[in-house]
Amino acid sequence: MRPSALIFVLAAVFGDLTAGVPIQDSPRQRLLDGKPLPARYRTNPPPPYTPGHREPYDRAVDAIGKQLDPLPYRNGHGASVLGPWNRKRARQNPDLVRPPSTDRGNMPNLRWSFVDSHMRIEEGGWTRQTTVRELPASVELAGVNMRLDEGVIRELHWHKEAEWAYVLEGSVRVTALDYEGGTFMDDLSKGDLWYFPAGVPHSLQGLGPNGTEFLLIFDSGSFEEESTFLLTDWLAHTPQSVLSKNFHLPPEIFAHIPASERYIFQGSKPPSPSLSDDFPPGKYVKKSKQQFTHRLLAQPPKNTTGGAVRMADSTNFPASRTVAAAHVLIAPSALREMHWHPTADEWSLILRGRARVTVFGAEGSARTFDYQAGDVGVVPKNMGHFVENIGDEEIEMLEIFRADRFRDFSLFQWLGETPRRMVADTLFQGDPKAGEKFLKEIEDAGKDEVTMPPVDEDEDTRWSVEEDL
Ligand SMILES: *[C@@H]1O[C@H](CO)[C@@H](O)[C@H](O)[C@H]1NC(C)=O
Ligand SMILES: *[C@@H]1O[C@H](CO)[C@@H](O)[C@H](O)[C@H]1NC(C)=O
Repeated sequence: MRPSALIFVLAAVFGDLTAGVPIQDSPRQRLLDGKPLPARYRTNPPPPYTPGHREPYDRAVDAIGKQLDPLPYRNGHGASVLGPWNRKRARQNPDLVRPPSTDRGNMPNLRWSFVDSHMRIEEGGWTRQTTVRELPASVELAGVNMRLDEGVIRELHWHKEAEWAYVLEGSVRVTALDYEGGTFMDDLSKGDLWYFPAGVPHSLQGLGPNGTEFLLIFDSGSFEEESTFLLTDWLAHTPQSVLSKNFHLPPEIFAHIPASERYIFQGSKPPSPSLSDDFPPGKYVKKSKQQFTHRLLAQPPKNTTGGAVRMADSTNFPASRTVAAAHVLIAPSALREMHWHPTADEWSLILRGRARVTVFGAEGSARTFDYQAGDVGVVPKNMGHFVENIGDEEIEMLEIFRADRFRDFSLFQWLGETPRRMVADTLFQGDPKAGEKFLKEIEDAGKDEVTMPPVDEDEDTRWSVEEDL
């Protein structure tokens, strides 16, 4: 292609997009500045998101990692975008801007990013939530992301829903009272879980040196973190004469208790790192016989060909009766295999990495979403899906369910354990030779939750030359 023709194509593709706000590193700006274009814009065949690019297999493109600007061109169709354009969000959503040709129908939105949630800022901490109000598909579970700095307390409280949590960073002291009146205390760090059944009163405190951040999960999507039952709120709304009778003390004792809720506030540091120094001394105090915490990341993983899985549900964490979860690692190029969950919606949080997920909703409907760190995804129960690692780093994610057991069906395993004739008749009547190859591949199929495909020789890597703009 002659340089002038190249400039014409690029100007047509990128020109209008960058007309309003100059983007310093855009190909158009490079040309205007008389600088050479990086190799990936000079390849033949043309790179993804340009008019001539054809990709009948709908392979994923890592728009962020490759610093490409997704545009709605697919296999000879499409056109440039003339209107306003949010380049960063387009890069985060390559499969919404240019969906795979297999997407169809009216699947509702199944992605929310915590960074789009309102942040409630308090003394020494903050909290934000992803509930059915932020993400309408989040009906079974609600998530809250909370940070407590060193010594900061999430005050004594309880709620109508059970609470499950995963410690994202740092360390935290949890305290609770069980149904039998036993006191429970534990110190947790990254990768640990807690579970408090509905109504169980509890509190949390960030420990040194930098406190903690965690994900809370409630077993109802309409949970409202602002409307929990707080100790301070209750006492502030009880006549002091009654407090006096209840605690057998003169009413003036209560003259200076907080006039409203404290919620999150700076507390004093524990007397020592030892839990026993903080344990209440009264003669009727007894240790809880319940185990409300669990070390998920300390569990040996189930290694799969493309990653590793750790599961925690009522079989190995008996307290957690209404929440089951899996911690999943997906290597670059690997796939959390095609599967579905029969009993509960999946609520997931991406901790690291970049993924694309296509959700199949029956009746010919399917939609593909992209996720990165801090994004929440929901997959309604029984809807088929996969998680494909489209970046160059490992994906770390949590899959969480309102269920007592983690359950999934693997497509690969199902077909391998189905009469061969049935599979061949259903899928390969049009190509018996391909059918033979397929049957051979699935013959000894087992569950491989995160599967590593063989290297794809056909993969068109010509445009993916790394060269920063
Ligand atoms: C605590 O936070 C400070 C300031 O952000 C940081 O420099 C330090 O490395 C952190 N310490 C730990 C143990 O994470
Ligand atoms: C799983 O993989 C990890 C990391 O490679 C390894 O340390 C561990 O021994 C493996 N576990 C099993 C059961 O193979």
